[in-house]
Amino acid sequence: NANGVKAGKTRNIVEKLEESGKNCIIFYGSQTGTAEDYASRLAKEGKSRFGLETMVADLEDYDYDNLDEIPSDKIVMFVLATYGEGEPTDNAVDFYEFIYNDDVSFSSGNEPALGNLNYVAFGLGNNTYEHYNSMVRNVDKALQKLGASRIGQAGEGDDGAGTMEEDFLAWKDPMWKALQEKMGLEEREAVYEPVFGVVERDGFTKDSPEVYLGEPNKMHLDGSPKGPFNAHNPYIAPIAKSYELFSVKDRNCLHMEVDISGSNLTYQTGDHIAVWPTNPGAEVDRFMNVFDLAHKRDDVISVKALEPTAKVPFPTPTTYDAIVRYHMEICAPVSRQFLATLAAFAPDEEAKSEMTKLGGDKEYFHSKVNIYHFNIARVLETVGKGKKWSNVPFSALIEGVTKLQPRYYSISSSSLEQPKMVSITAVVEQQYLPGREDPFRGVATNYLLALKEKQNGEPNPAPFGQTYEIMGPRNKYTGIHVPVHVRHSNFKLPSDPTKPIIMIGPGTGVAPFRGFIRERKRQAEHGEEVGKSILFFGCRKESEDFMYADEWKEAKAVLGDKLEIVLAFSRDGPKKVYVQHRLKERAKEVNELLEKKAYFYVCGDAANMAREVNTVLGQILAEQRGIPETKAEEVVKNMRAANQYQEDVWS
Ligand code: FAD
Ligand code: 2AM
Repeated sequence: NANGVKAGKTRNIVEKLEESGKNCIIFYGSQTGTAEDYASRLAKEGKSRFGLETMVADLEDYDYDNLDEIPSDKIVMFVLATYGEGEPTDNAVDFYEFIYNDDVSFSSGNEPALGNLNYVAFGLGNNTYEHYNSMVRNVDKALQKLGASRIGQAGEGDDGAGTMEEDFLAWKDPMWKALQEKMGLEEREAVYEPVFGVVERDGFTKDSPEVYLGEPNKMHLDGSPKGPFNAHNPYIAPIAKSYELFSVKDRNCLHMEVDISGSNLTYQTGDHIAVWPTNPGAEVDRFMNVFDLAHKRDDVISVKALEPTAKVPFPTPTTYDAIVRYHMEICAPVSRQFLATLAAFAPDEEAKSEMTKLGGDKEYFHSKVNIYHFNIARVLETVGKGKKWSNVPFSALIEGVTKLQPRYYSISSSSLEQPKMVSITAVVEQQYLPGREDPFRGVATNYLLALKEKQNGEPNPAPFGQTYEIMGPRNKYTGIHVPVHVRHSNFKLPSDPTKPIIMIGPGTGVAPFRGFIRERKRQAEHGEEVGKSILFFGCRKESEDFMYADEWKEAKAVLGDKLEIVLAFSRDGPKKVYVQHRLKERAKEVNELLEKKAYFYVCGDAANMAREVNTVLGQILAEQRGIPETKAEEVVKNMRAANQYQEDVWS
């Protein structure tokens, strides 16, 4: 396929298990890669500790109508993320529709249908969403109803509380115990068996034309990228313009316009754009040095799966440098489990025992690593006291370091006004953590910041060792480009432009509402009647981070009193004022608009803001309609179900 990854031939699970000699299949439903990562970790642990013949499988790659024919001596694991408003991830939609369906039917007609199926389940969710972990809960329910037997508890990881990793670790130990008992598995001394073989390719250099240096797939390697552009095949889009939105020195927020006119990509106002980032050069170097790869970073290697069911997650032949720079999430905070895994390869006994302690002691790990958001290379530099970790097999890094993921942004332009120009509004992720020398920096937003500086010929004020190479040093693009694809969303303006809308978008949560307002402005300019639009926007200080202030004025000049911008500056006065406080001040009007079937939109921070707005809306309805709060909560729920209340939130 386009990813340069070998796709399995059969979609038949039973056949696949048989032909590959596996007895444990781990399905994942993953959007951003975490569920996939957990699935691989379960596969590895199952194999090394219990000798299970494990395989990881993308739910999208198989059919499910013969789940009932999987023999009872096999194990099926499900690692399922819940996405957005309780939805399955893109790759799990078909599976979910199949299994969570009253009319589900299997080919052989067994009774009870899944009486033979032994399964294990873990969900990844976010408790700030109403439908917390609904994917794993519903799938678990459906499987039970069909007579399948669950082994251990159905685990639930909570991203909202920031405890995903610890929830996973806490769930899996009792699960393995239960599995061991049920299937009669013997635990053995964990042995590391590489999943990937790395072959050095003599005779090739990094200038050989068939060697991938960061190109995402064959078409890009050949210099002839073609659509469809999607999550496997980004479009390398020119950046038409980029500028800073904040007027304060130590924080950045970018406005960036990405030109998609050279592609067949389309978008609608309210969709998302995915940005494919590149790791910063300084962190690539750190990683290369600590793993003793620096001297051979440009050597050409082929990576092969040593097991029939494993997939190499990048195209080969390639170089160590290209893999680390373009395909590995090397800047992310490292997991405790990965440290435990690497203990076996420590350069000396002292480092080994420190790694074992970090890996095994949750509190110790928290105080030494987690609070500083240290990435893997930073931890190993410290633990190894500068010694190189040359014993770590490269396969262990491919297995253990997450795949570098595209980041999503709520499109802040209107497709009516600019069908081929997508704008992004992104705040640059920088966290100053007490006790850590330099700030923790987000990969994609600092990459975008670097692209902006490069494009505008600005000096880089805080050099982060960024690399500007887009998809490898060989690319022939002139000007500044960024690899992107578009993801369609359900966050949409009412199809009837005369319907009133209420938008709540503090901070970068304003992104899609810039698109909404520009769209209505455009409609008004074309003589269409538009409904009342109220935006509740919040930021710290009017003089620092009040973005798009001029644009609101321009929109108001056209829309007049059809547009209202309500502002909440949280740090300008003696006490914090947030968007939900302003919302409450407007209770009467908000209620009247909702009675006129206004759409209610919330975008931005999922952790606190979105939930608090939800609560405040309930209070407003209770007070204005003279109904009990429980009843008002019900009304809000119904609004959500009817799409009158829409959320586009992230944490
Ligand atoms: P990263 O390198 O991804 O780091 C991001 C954060 O993750 C840091 O705070 C880091 O502390 C934390 N983190 C990561 N892994 C761990 C871990 N294991 N343990 C603890 N902490 C961890 N952002 C915008 O600015 N504007 C938008 O319009 C916008 N729209 C979005 C729409 C959607 C649908 C989604 C899902 C997200 C949206 N985001 C938006 C957020 C955006 O996708 C990125 O998450 C954000 O820009 C940070 O990316 P980064 O690569 O710079 O940071
Ligand atoms: P603060 O940082 O001063 O607390 C954009 O980030 C704006 O959202 C800022 O003004 C920020 O205020 C505010 N904000 C922080 N927490 C919030 C919450 N729980 N609800 C609404 N707004 C919040």
